[in-house]
Amino acid sequence: MTTTSKDFVPALGRVGNIDRYDRVVALMTREKRWRSALIRLIDPQPGERIVDIGCGTGTLAIALRHKVSDAMVIGVDPDPEALAIARAKSAAAVPVDWVNAMGDALDDIPHLADCDRITSSLVLHQCPLAVKSSILRQKWRLLRPGGQMFIADYGEQRSFLMRLLFRQVQIVDGFELTEPNARGCLPALIEAAGFEAVIEQSVIATPTGSISLYSAVKPG
Ligand SMILES: C[S@@+](CC[C@H](N)C(=O)[O-])C[C@H]1O[C@@H](n2cnc3c(N)ncnc32)[C@H](O)[C@@H]1O
Repeated sequence: MTTTSKDFVPALGRVGNIDRYDRVVALMTREKRWRSALIRLIDPQPGERIVDIGCGTGTLAIALRHKVSDAMVIGVDPDPEALAIARAKSAAAVPVDWVNAMGDALDDIPHLADCDRITSSLVLHQCPLAVKSSILRQKWRLLRPGGQMFIADYGEQRSFLMRLLFRQVQIVDGFELTEPNARGCLPALIEAAGFEAVIEQSVIATPTGSISLYSAVKPG
């Protein structure tokens, strides 16, 4: 399935060049710290099907597939330019299935349904409030009963310093889209989508604000 919709904010905002994305994230988000914590939290198992929504240039999906060689990992993103980079990276490393689609329009893609684990990283902060909710509801629909959902994203900015640093993200991605995250909207939105056991597992200070890791379960 392909989408031509441009109704999304690209990885580095509307002005940044996707070719620079991996370097910018490494530098500006303490990427190794939060990504390795997220991979530990997801804890992929042999034989599982794992979906990464808003996979961008594919770093997380490739790392998950690398960790468990007989897991099936599927990365989904609306941006064909980001997916081209992801494809090139995985061709040189491990097989990952890439799907060009919006994160809330996935009901008709058969191999996504009934997945075991579903995740997203740094996606929801750059979506409008209604889209944050519809992606979370989509994640709920795709998961099998008892399946687990994970998020790494800018969450509640609890100190003056983190709020100040998060302004950099707000300038790039837009105040309206990012402010609900800074005010701590995610746990309530995750619960409203139908998930249980919603836990903010950790909060990691970065040069662009704090990134929170969340886990939740679709009731079995
Ligand atoms: C900041 S990048 C994060 C990429 C990757 N997940 C990572 O951790 O590096 C945000 C990604 O979300 C994607 N995105 C934006 N709106 C989306 C939507 N409505 N559904 C799915 N993905 C979306 C963008 O195309 C972009 O690749």
